[in-house]
Amino acid sequence: MHDTLRINGQRLLGRLERLGEIGALPGGGCCRLALTEEDRQGRELVIGWMHELGLEVTSDAMGNAFGLRPGTEAGPPVMAGSHIDTVRTGGIYDGNLGVLGGLEVVETLNEAGITTRRPLCIAFFTNEEGARFAPDMMGSLVYVGGMSLEEARATEGIDGQRVGDCLDAIGARGEAPVGRPEVHAFVEIHVEQGPVLEESGITIGAVEKVQGISWQELTFTGTSNHAGTTPMRLRQDAGYAAMATGAFVRELVNRIGGDQVGTVGALDIKPNLVNVVANHARFTVDLRNTDNDRLKQAEDELKAFVEQLAEREGIDVEHRTLARFDPVPFAPEMVNRVEASARALGHSVMRMPSGAGHDAQMLARVCPTAMIFVPSVDGISHNIHEYTAPEDLEAGTNVLLQVLLDLAE
Ligand code: GLV
Ligand code: MN
Ligand code: MN
Repeated sequence: MHDTLRINGQRLLGRLERLGEIGALPGGGCCRLALTEEDRQGRELVIGWMHELGLEVTSDAMGNAFGLRPGTEAGPPVMAGSHIDTVRTGGIYDGNLGVLGGLEVVETLNEAGITTRRPLCIAFFTNEEGARFAPDMMGSLVYVGGMSLEEARATEGIDGQRVGDCLDAIGARGEAPVGRPEVHAFVEIHVEQGPVLEESGITIGAVEKVQGISWQELTFTGTSNHAGTTPMRLRQDAGYAAMATGAFVRELVNRIGGDQVGTVGALDIKPNLVNVVANHARFTVDLRNTDNDRLKQAEDELKAFVEQLAEREGIDVEHRTLARFDPVPFAPEMVNRVEASARALGHSVMRMPSGAGHDAQMLARVCPTAMIFVPSVDGISHNIHEYTAPEDLEAGTNVLLQVLLDLAE
């Protein structure tokens, strides 16, 4: 109906760059770990923009924030959103595009004087990244009832601080009850964060599903001893066990093949000295697959490996699950809407799975949900060099505009 309406790409980019100044890192990108002072400043900026655009702003007890734009009729809004927290070495697009793309749609509608039938709502969810506090997608998980507020608040981060204390400290804890407003449909635009669209020469990804995610923390406890005098047969070496497990993860993932990926991304070794056998090694394993059976196979094999290794080495192993989400398919009619809108705007489009986790996978539990991907140059993300070309940001956000209008009319 409003198929000649277009968003303003410059304005969108201006907001992305302005938000990227908060927690900016030397050389580009930014660090706005969840519930830090930088996150507080980012929230303040985005909520300020929501007010400027005339949105009715609320936040819930989990710090999820919502900007509502009333429709001509009452009822559950069509929601667009994502997150504004980043990993420690983040880019300026991951998550931020989904929120600021939503605000750009609102400003476009404001300028054109269009009121949709259903209300629209632009949201950002707390701690999507999970880099400081596991699991990832925590705010949206609590929002859809998949984790209690109490459990989330009690979660301890990598720095020993708790979610609840940090929410309170930065003033992010809101008054609105968790799980409000109810949602008619949810749409998230996001950078792909992988190489597929660029390699295929395609502008828009219509995301069909998000792959399953398994995050585990393993801790080996051995005995520290002298590196020169301790015969190999007498060692209880936690450092060796961690490294052997890291190598096993790569071998396992290669053997399973297909979509299976695996990462040892964090490692803490003690006493961390050149001439001392390590008595402590704590590290994380991130396993993902679009196929849940294969993902379970990878988890089982990893478990068997570390148990045998610990026994052979005469050390203890402790196992903690940080996150575990099954693969999430999106409603086919929503995927079709993204594909059809992209085509109607003259963009090339392909259906694809998401390798990264997203708030959309949680919203899919409570409403029809879609994701729009735009290309990531060189497939780089969670890196300060993350980049998406302005014309691709604009193309994707125009698709968002059309999908939201379609859903709200
Ligand atoms: C979080 O968004 C992840 O995919 O790691
Ligand atoms: Mn993200
Ligand atoms: Mn991310």
